[in-house]
Amino acid sequence: MASYLESNQERFLSELLDWLRIPSVSADPKFHGDVLRAAEYLKTRLEEVGIENVELCQTAGNPIVYGEKIIDPSLPTVLVYGHYDVQPADPYELWTSGPFDPVIKDGKIYARGACDDKGQVYMHVKAFEVLMQEGGVPCNVKVMIEGEEEIGSNNLGIFVRENKEKLKADVILISDTGMIANDTPSIEVGLRGLSYHEVEVTGPNRDLHSGLYGGAVANPINILCKMIASLHDENNHITIPGFYDNVDELSAEERAEMAKAPHSDDEFKQSIGLTDIHGEKGYSTPERVSIRPTLDVNGIWGGYTGEGAKTVIASKAYAKISMRLVPHQTSDEITALFQKHFESIAPASVTVKVKPHHGGEPVVTPTDSVAYKAAADAMETTFGKRPIPTRGGGSIPIVAMFKSELGLDTVLLGFGLDSDAIHSPNEHYGVFNFLKGIETIPHFYRNYAAAMVK
Ligand code: BES
Ligand code: MN
Ligand code: MN
Repeated sequence: MASYLESNQERFLSELLDWLRIPSVSADPKFHGDVLRAAEYLKTRLEEVGIENVELCQTAGNPIVYGEKIIDPSLPTVLVYGHYDVQPADPYELWTSGPFDPVIKDGKIYARGACDDKGQVYMHVKAFEVLMQEGGVPCNVKVMIEGEEEIGSNNLGIFVRENKEKLKADVILISDTGMIANDTPSIEVGLRGLSYHEVEVTGPNRDLHSGLYGGAVANPINILCKMIASLHDENNHITIPGFYDNVDELSAEERAEMAKAPHSDDEFKQSIGLTDIHGEKGYSTPERVSIRPTLDVNGIWGGYTGEGAKTVIASKAYAKISMRLVPHQTSDEITALFQKHFESIAPASVTVKVKPHHGGEPVVTPTDSVAYKAAADAMETTFGKRPIPTRGGGSIPIVAMFKSELGLDTVLLGFGLDSDAIHSPNEHYGVFNFLKGIETIPHFYRNYAAAMVK
């Protein structure tokens, strides 16, 4: 007999596609109405599957969708977190189908948010439905899905601090990360932190003719490029004094353990069209994207970028610069070091302003907890292979706050792949991954409840 999941998968997919049609882009105010519609859509779907007291909790920004199913206050409680907001879809011309016009092609759902994070959140909604149809949930469930993760979760931070009683739980469960491959399940056990800045370099008080003035004035774009170039040395170490002071250096044993996870530099290069690998000397590619801090320019602009040539020395140049942080760096510490250093390396011929944006703290989640084991066992059941713990390179700023404010550890039960192109054109999510998530999550609840009640 077909399982409930098998018999209903077409509907599950079509509901997800309806949600993906709503462009819930948090970064751009022009989508504010759509963000609210996406929250409402989720609220209705949660109510339909039997989540109770579903509400849109208002914040200074986008609402948080909250609901719960308390079956017995003496049983353990799982708090599921995710986000319904998505990254901007730009550049639109690079999408092969509309970012908010989802299509299923070659077994993959193409749309902005398909993987990050609407597709993964929707697995939880449908896993809950499956559990309810198959006899009920084995423990209490709270669901908190926010609409500002992609812009730093500032208002969720406030909400968490002000609602500690409401959010009381035993563990946080999140599907907003990835795994190694569909035949190599893994569980992320770490996230990097973030320190993000916008810098402005000002030279002359107006744009100048580059013939009349060129050679005799500091060109802010030239200077900015030089300043940025100086932030890494010839070994690709970051040159900000004190930057590595608090970095947790892994032992040789820990690094040897990490090196057991399958990885090929050739495949890595090939998958993103690179001719050579690059990064901090002394570390492997998997280490560079997980246990090591980084500094990257995310955007740079200034001067004339229109059609043809214009001979000009611009008055100002700008860049957005981010640093990924690892334990035990803190975003406040690194923000202060960056600001001080970047201002100090500016020549006297320009003025520099550094404006810090949102930040986030790095985390490592335990692998010896009941919840981690419940998740690993669940994946082992549905994939037929024990998942490998891996440290992730991305950031989910609220996870460190769950620990510091609520005292709760997190399990990152993610089903995405690096090749899903999250934040890029043609983001997609495997139908396999979506269904595998819905199949795996109920096992997590059952394993976790059984182990906790013992
Ligand atoms: N879901 C991602 C983070 C992620 C993706 C972690 C894959 C691990 C594996 C999240 O939505 C995200 O994009 N976070 C941002 C940070 C945020 C403050 C904008 C990031 O990592 O850049
Ligand atoms: Mn995400
Ligand atoms: Mn994201």
